Amino acid sequence: MQKYALPPYKIKMVEPISLIGKDERVKRLKEAGYNPFRLRSEDVYIDLLTDSGTGAMSHFQWAALMQGDESYAGSRSYYRLEKVVKDITGYNYILPAHQGRGAEQVVIPELVVHDNMCFISNIHFDTTRAHVEIAGARAIDCVIPECFEISKYHPFKGNFDLKKLEQIILEKEAKNIAGIIMTITNNSAGGQPVSMENMRAVNVIAKKYGITLLIDGARYAENSFFIKKREAGYENKTIREIAKEVFDLADIFLMSAKKDGLVNIGGIIAIKDNFELFQKCQTNIVPKEGFPTYGGLAGRDMDALAVGLQEALEESYLAYRIDEVRYLGDLLREAGIPIQYPTGGHAVFVDCGEIAPHIPFDQFPAQAVSNALYIEGGIRPVEIGSLLLGRDPDTRKNIKADKEFMRLTIPRRTYTMEHLRYVAECLISVYKNRKDLKGLEFTYESPILRHFTAEFKPVE
Ligand code: F0G
Repeated sequence: MQKYALPPYKIKMVEPISLIGKDERVKRLKEAGYNPFRLRSEDVYIDLLTDSGTGAMSHFQWAALMQGDESYAGSRSYYRLEKVVKDITGYNYILPAHQGRGAEQVVIPELVVHDNMCFISNIHFDTTRAHVEIAGARAIDCVIPECFEISKYHPFKGNFDLKKLEQIILEKEAKNIAGIIMTITNNSAGGQPVSMENMRAVNVIAKKYGITLLIDGARYAENSFFIKKREAGYENKTIREIAKEVFDLADIFLMSAKKDGLVNIGGIIAIKDNFELFQKCQTNIVPKEGFPTYGGLAGRDMDALAVGLQEALEESYLAYRIDEVRYLGDLLREAGIPIQYPTGGHAVFVDCGEIAPHIPFDQFPAQAVSNALYIEGGIRPVEIGSLLLGRDPDTRKNIKADKEFMRLTIPRRTYTMEHLRYVAECLISVYKNRKDLKGLEFTYESPILRHFTAEFKPVE
């Protein structure tokens, strides 16, 4: 029995990458204002910034691109995508969008029907939160506390805190809840899965109070795989059957298809049976994304997506995918590096608050470790901590994150275990020299979404 699953594909096309010299990396990082977001990808050897739109397509998908029907309205490509999404979800109404946030900007405002409304999620992803706030509502997170006990095993750290969920509904009153959003997997806490049992309980609560239930399902296939592996009663079901059972529980499915759609661009809106809402979204999508049968995508994009959605439900693909993440996590843990454990679906989250306790939160320990990893090995991670959180809009003070995470995000079907072993070796070397890490102070900071463009200098 293999310790880690084997890859169910071989390599047919390669994209050369190269590691520039260490002096060069030091120079490039300085030019980038000590912010990996500002690096050029040609100066990066292994890019672990995101798993979004960075994966490799299969030869079936490349072949499907050639079938793209570039008609403005009613293209064959749309109908092929519609059929696949209907088959997977069982939902009636399907609209494409250019990516996840495109889907959000079409649907979320339609659910905010009066003032003082809020959404409740296990944890809202950043863009989801932004669209909730732009629509004039508030975003409340409601994940189980075990989510933040990073070294303690829990099979479903993405679960809703059910007691708290009901308390919030009673406190705010059901009429003021615009929707409950199940983020599967729960990206912001380490791609942590949500169990079927928990989703079923959320569904019962939503029904009891008449609240719309949404799935933010960028990584729904990975979540389904975890259910199969970790939840009793699902071991003999197919990933597709499990996913269908999940969709049966909700009313709306929003998807950034750049993850489990296995494409470089794309998004999906699927509505189970609310025809009135579908009509509103159909109207809303035109000025925002495009005509309802293309929604910001080329016909060829929709064809690649129709194939990718099906490939992402193959168990052999998911087994290797999830094991790549687990493999990297195991190597780091064996070296004593603190990570969110167990590893989730798409990334290893490293606790840099613990690695560099001498760096105050507002000098961004996870950004310091990320920069050191770039210098060490040309690897680009991303900070998910106090830098990302930003400032309190009223006091302008830096908000302190629960955890100063560095996310090592693994693109799909892109890197081999060999690449990941190298990543682990480089991070272990940074970890050994952790006392030398220095905090960062701003030389430029934009008023919102500062992490993308900020520039720093090391604190001496
Ligand atoms: N929802 C979740 C759970 C996500 O992780 C993302 C994107 C989105 C929605 C928005 O989708 O990027 O296609 O517009 N996550 C990426 C990431 C950007 O790096 O985690 P999008």
